[in-house]
Amino acid sequence: MIQRNDSMASMIVGVGSYLPEQVVTNDDLADMMDTSDEWIRTRTGVGLRRRAAPHETTASLAVEAASRAVIDAGLSGGDIDLIVMGTMFPDFTYPGPGMVVQRALCGDKPVPVIDIRVQCAGFIYALSMADLFIRSGQARRVLCVFAEKEFDHFKVDRQIGVIFGDGAGAAVIGPAQDGRGLVVTDLKGDGAGVPDLIMTSDNLVGLREGDAIWPAELSKARQYWQERGFIPGHTKYPFWIGQEVFRNAVKRLAKSVRDVLETAGCRTEDVDLFFLHQANARINGKIKEMLHLPDEKVPENIERIGNTGAASIIILMDETRRDGRLKPGDLCLLSAFGAGYLWGSALLRF
Ligand code: UT7
Repeated sequence: MIQRNDSMASMIVGVGSYLPEQVVTNDDLADMMDTSDEWIRTRTGVGLRRRAAPHETTASLAVEAASRAVIDAGLSGGDIDLIVMGTMFPDFTYPGPGMVVQRALCGDKPVPVIDIRVQCAGFIYALSMADLFIRSGQARRVLCVFAEKEFDHFKVDRQIGVIFGDGAGAAVIGPAQDGRGLVVTDLKGDGAGVPDLIMTSDNLVGLREGDAIWPAELSKARQYWQERGFIPGHTKYPFWIGQEVFRNAVKRLAKSVRDVLETAGCRTEDVDLFFLHQANARINGKIKEMLHLPDEKVPENIERIGNTGAASIIILMDETRRDGRLKPGDLCLLSAFGAGYLWGSALLRF
């Protein structure tokens, strides 16, 4: 689904992010699992990541980032008309953490909340949703917030556990002005990717203790977990076929970026900054090579904070804006890929 907005309706009017204090080094990980600093750096580009404190929840990370974005926009919670929230690890099965953000920021104002399940590509989808609500006149300002408290869930597996870190990012989307705004979005999904990147939920834990009935989508994960002595039905495990996900991410993101540029009638040279999801530095290295993107146009923070899921692009935008690389009016191309598979890109004038 690719959409070109000949008249721009919405733009990013505020950005905020939050990283927990605790820093986990690759050497710390080597004490927890069979890995090394050298392996992690060469295969993923990650050097450090953050870990939420025991008292921090997904919702509390989200509230922190969201408050900063609202202040950055020069607004208060009462100015928000809609909240779109995403995470891979909600604190409660229901309701979603977006409700906690709503209460904390908007108080008694009955602001609608949509908790979305789009994994790492969540911000691209949220930008598109916000644009539609603003374009239709139903909302003037939409708060998009993504928080991931994932480190402790993933550290059970060395392939996955070394990449991810905790963090949150938020953006307020408001009416377009001064030639700034969302130009093109490309949203894509392919459920053939479900078995390749998957984690069981509460539905498969406890209820069928010791005798789990495995959904067909877990066919690939099952063998991997059983070889490692995991007991189905007793706990939740993540699984991915790293190389398959890697190949799909490179191929699909490169195509999405090309399609968006073609739809906008732009060349790569016209874009000031490319914000690529920080999943693995080697994935982004391949995309840069395929599209001939110069390093200075592709900011990265994966070495310092790892893969923070759907928060990663917003955290990166917040950092580059603070250090002066991202300026109002810059043409930016955002692109992300994650479980589902769900992926997409957005071209916007910041
Ligand atoms: O954000 C959502 C999207 N996610 C992604 O895009 C992730 C995509 N995939 C990847 O980033 C990479 O595939 C991984 C980082 C997960 C794995 O890197 P790889 O270069 O594909 O490694 P591999 O799976 O081919 O494994 C190579 C070797 C294996 O050992 P053998 O079979 O060659 O003896 C693994 O068992 O490295 C081993 N290995 C490790 N060794 C040390 C796997 N994980 C580790 C580890 N430390 N953490």
